[in-house]
Amino acid sequence: MTDPGEKTVATLVVRGLRQCLTMAGAASQPRCGRDQENIGLVEDAAVAVAGEEIVYAGPASGVLSSVRVAADAVSLDADGGVLLPGFVDPHTHLLFGGWRPGEFAQRVGGASYREILQAGGGILSTVADTRACSEEELVEIGTRRLGRMLRAGTTTVEAKSGYGLSAGDESKLVRAARRLAATEITDIAVTLLAAHAIPPEYRDDRDGYLSLVEEMIIALADRIDYVDAFCEEGAFSVRECRRVFAAARRAGCAIKIHADQLGDTAGAELAAEVGAVSADHLDYISTAGIAALAGAGVVAVLLPSVPLYVMSRRQAPARRLQAAGVPIALATDFNPGTSAVESMGLIVSLACTLLGMTPEAALVAATTNAAHAIGQGDVVGRLEPGMRADLQIYATHDYRMLPYRFGQLSPRWVIKRGRVVVADGASAS
Ligand code: NIG
Ligand code: FE
Repeated sequence: MTDPGEKTVATLVVRGLRQCLTMAGAASQPRCGRDQENIGLVEDAAVAVAGEEIVYAGPASGVLSSVRVAADAVSLDADGGVLLPGFVDPHTHLLFGGWRPGEFAQRVGGASYREILQAGGGILSTVADTRACSEEELVEIGTRRLGRMLRAGTTTVEAKSGYGLSAGDESKLVRAARRLAATEITDIAVTLLAAHAIPPEYRDDRDGYLSLVEEMIIALADRIDYVDAFCEEGAFSVRECRRVFAAARRAGCAIKIHADQLGDTAGAELAAEVGAVSADHLDYISTAGIAALAGAGVVAVLLPSVPLYVMSRRQAPARRLQAAGVPIALATDFNPGTSAVESMGLIVSLACTLLGMTPEAALVAATTNAAHAIGQGDVVGRLEPGMRADLQIYATHDYRMLPYRFGQLSPRWVIKRGRVVVADGASAS
């Protein structure tokens, strides 16, 4: 909206910001090296929004020379608070039926994640529970989860299929994710992870299942944003993943990969070879793998809650990745087996304490770099004119309180596409 005086008419204005983390900077590139810590901090700031877009994020003194505030605009006084872009969670297994608390107890008693997986527990028990859910039930489950994530500041998520493992069930998961995306509670990137595990009916026919995965990619290509595969001993080999990714390429789908999570299988090298947008996990990445990611500009999506949750303790070498120039993003990996965690705020804290990332590097990783990890770096994750107005505002004076308070702070307001959807920590709808 522009008025006769040529100034954009703001429909929402936030004033009284002690700190605003704009993440302003190069649009086309995820941040790496020293730039990974560039949060674009503005003190004593204001932010203005017109419709669904940011029109101003900068010093409070400059807002009125840039925009005209509509008479009926929403006006928020942050009372010395902190504003940053909504979190982008670029790796979740959002949709599944059932939880697995028994396995958690088994692991505490000494069983490893891999042992449980190989004994037919793990992923396959969630596959049975997910196959039993209708599309409608999955949409309801997803709506509740997205609501909780939104109240914790997450305004964009990536959602993987992967607990269906049949043509009908994977397509049901993709349809449910698309329906959730259409509600715009949260923006969603949809990923097909049919290559998550070999389903029981194909136990003795891996090749047959891989052919089915190829067919699913063709059938679902126009409804998905990414194809992912679990590249790991006990899941899919590098050769098998290559086959899945070749099908993705032919169908015009971008690629993500679960790589080097439980051992070094050269998954990072494969990510570079196939031009993946991101390589995720990387707890066992090799020196050659780090160099490969850096050379190919692949975003490393680190998931620090996972080794903690499964008690393997081996974390990805975040500092070495950063020093090598690999852009780092963070995600929850929300799933019922290895990370029943929905809060990106907690992940930011874990990135600092377990990965040795600075608060600044972790916040960049949870916003603009996370957006790049789902191909949306020019749409969300930074507060610059024209970007989507997805914001979170905290009642604290110092952004470092977020990691310091260990995921326990919730935003006072969350703004999604220019609308206040969470106010005083409660859903505004
Ligand atoms: O990202 N690594 C594979 N997939 C999930 C775990 C899935 C499960 O245990 O249900 C992960 O950790
Ligand atoms: Fe995962």
